Amino acid sequence: MDFSTLTEQLMGLGTGRWAIHHRAVQKLWAGEDVVMLSIGEPQLGTPAGIVDTAVESLRTGRTKYAIGRGEPALLEVIADRYTKRSGRVVGTDQVTFFPGSHTALYALCQTLLEAGDHILVPDPFYAAYEGIIRASRAEMIPVPLRPENRFHLEIDALEKALTPQSRVLILNNPHNPTGAVLSRDRVREVAEFCRRHDLWLISDEAYEQHVYEGEFVSPFDMEEFSDRIAVICSVSKSHAMTGWRCGWAVGSPELLDHLVAVSEAMMFGAQPFLQDATAYALTHHFDDLDHMIADYARRARLATELIAKSDAVTCHMPQGGIFVMVDVRSTGLSGDEFASRLLEDKLVATMPGESFGRSGAGHVRISLTAADESITTGCNRVIELAESLTS
Ligand SMILES: Cc1ncc(COP(=O)(O)O)c(C=O)c1O
Repeated sequence: MDFSTLTEQLMGLGTGRWAIHHRAVQKLWAGEDVVMLSIGEPQLGTPAGIVDTAVESLRTGRTKYAIGRGEPALLEVIADRYTKRSGRVVGTDQVTFFPGSHTALYALCQTLLEAGDHILVPDPFYAAYEGIIRASRAEMIPVPLRPENRFHLEIDALEKALTPQSRVLILNNPHNPTGAVLSRDRVREVAEFCRRHDLWLISDEAYEQHVYEGEFVSPFDMEEFSDRIAVICSVSKSHAMTGWRCGWAVGSPELLDHLVAVSEAMMFGAQPFLQDATAYALTHHFDDLDHMIADYARRARLATELIAKSDAVTCHMPQGGIFVMVDVRSTGLSGDEFASRLLEDKLVATMPGESFGRSGAGHVRISLTAADESITTGCNRVIELAESLTS
């Protein structure tokens, strides 16, 4: 039987990237005591009030087809959120619900890109971008982020990566996997770069709530650029709701009309009871979630202080996000090789930096969603391995 060439390309994408994590899971199943620092998944359960809202919504019959753009009450909540954040009126015609920011990005790429167009993506990048972009038949152009510059996006690097076919830039701030948080000035410069070169700017704000140093700044909140900006965000990481698949996109009314046409073709609306739960999540405060985010910051300090004890490895305190990148280049191994040895010899699962693009090479990524003991054991074993390789 024949399949599209696209599916063949997509099928090859994830395999190498997640190989170490998958090997670690198999070891766990075989009863080995692996320290799992590979995946960024909140350990906390979703707050009870959100779960109760979804259940109540199911019980009261919120189980029918929904309006394509999203349930009016939720659209009001999201529009209000961006109105307050930006200080200008954001209407419900500027918002739509998606099953997670991942799907929102998929639909945006279908909306903004033609086959053969180029999309600039700071590298390292959230690993799923590659498949999403490939599905749009556009070409991803990596924009190197330098570890020496704490992986902060530089305008020079953008200018160098720019091609005549470039149409879109993805800005992920706070950044996965590096934890970089851009200053207001840098965000403005990035938006100006997009205006100068007539690019769309997709602002991936999945980690908006996870900032430990500096402030979160969105280019969407700078009115002069807002017409060319699409925000994607979700409650996945902020509300410990990764499996719920609840997210949204925000942009100009014109962009949203086009985007909703794509989302309706994809999904024909989304579950009303999930949208009710999302509205509840966004309009209530949860102490547990404050603690969860404070835990990430504390664990980031814990990991960076441990790593600082050795000369064989280095890392920066992440300014945001839920990961720490550890530089293992002095061992002479690639991130892939180091992560593989770390799993086989020390039973610690990390993600090789290469899984997130070329500029992640020579690093391993540690997730801060693991418990303090796991972070401590994991970092100590990273040091043991690195020192055995450098001595
Ligand atoms: C940078 C970034 N963007 C988007 C996503 C997708 O998240 P979701 O689809 O759950 O909103 C993730 C998930 O890890 C991420 O790290």
